[in-house]
Amino acid sequence: MSTKPRIFSGAQPTGNLHLGNYLGAVRNWVRLQADYECIYCVVDLHAITVAQDPAELSRATREVAAAYLAAGVDATTSIVFNQARVAAHAELAWIFNCVARLGWLNRMTQFKEKAGKNRENASTGLYVYPNLMAADILAYRATHVPVGEDQKQHIELARDIAQKFNKDFGVDLFPLPEPVIQAEAARVMSLRDGTKKMSKSDPSDMSRINLTDSPDLIAQKIRRATTDPLPLPDTVEGLSGRAEATNLVTIYAGLADQEVADVVAKFAGANFSTFKEALTQLAIDTLAPITGEMRRLTADPGYIDGVLRDGAARARALAAPVLADVHKAVGLLTD
Ligand code: TYM
Repeated sequence: MSTKPRIFSGAQPTGNLHLGNYLGAVRNWVRLQADYECIYCVVDLHAITVAQDPAELSRATREVAAAYLAAGVDATTSIVFNQARVAAHAELAWIFNCVARLGWLNRMTQFKEKAGKNRENASTGLYVYPNLMAADILAYRATHVPVGEDQKQHIELARDIAQKFNKDFGVDLFPLPEPVIQAEAARVMSLRDGTKKMSKSDPSDMSRINLTDSPDLIAQKIRRATTDPLPLPDTVEGLSGRAEATNLVTIYAGLADQEVADVVAKFAGANFSTFKEALTQLAIDTLAPITGEMRRLTADPGYIDGVLRDGAARARALAAPVLADVHKAVGLLTD
């Protein structure tokens, strides 16, 4: 048994991973492997809370797993698997459906965004999505959850569920998981609109850089990214009120692993064409090796399936004793 603290995190296979997923989450996962016992999941059960084409879901599940590996997740020390392979997630989520309160779920901003105006027509799965997310984390008693800013509210809900479960059943079974949020690039914005999050569901592919994009496409997307007419400022304060400039500078800082202030100092007074050229080069240098490795891995689906199957077996072994404790606490008779 590892004595390191345990991490759980995941991404939905609802399409390609993009630069926001990479800078906000996956790159952080890779780095945390040195100090944590890590479980990284492709959350296919979360993906089906909105309609998915079955063949595309399977393809995207393998591709997202390939992205984790290509980015540097080590599937021999960390656990990489897809959620549907480990029944404990769905099982614990049901129990959490009976712990979480309607009022708590009603406050979730992501449900409101995703359900949109046609709320009556949203799946009930979309509504209880955060309970499944709490189950993902707590089935392993994970204490740390590296995510982008947008998932913070869901992790707070997981803490509330853990606390209420412990209190209701008079146990000390679940830890209260903490979000681990990377300061720079915790919220990468759309290349077309600096006030909107970069997202897989944005209808415009020009709004995001996908981990599968070719260098030419990356260059084209950055060239066409929305900007304002002013040159870059010489102080961080000078970025305020300039959403697009802030976003591009933040992306640069994220990719270069520098502070925003250092990037501002480097490009003070530069016009966007100069800055965009440097950003393009940096993005290509960073992403091309990952894209190449993803292509190599996805060419061998048998290998990816082996990784996912092996990860699932290890995940099941970790979740089984937790589920047994849960059953006992609740009074459910199981073997
Ligand atoms: P998902 O699939 O939307 O995103 C995966 C990860 O990428 C982060 N992210 C971003 N970070 C910065 N800027 C952006 N524009 C951006 N877009 C996405 C997300 O914050 C996330 O960390 N509900 C989760 C998946 C999930 C999960 C979990 C995460 C299911 N169970 C348990 C942690 C623990 C989601 O939809 O992520």
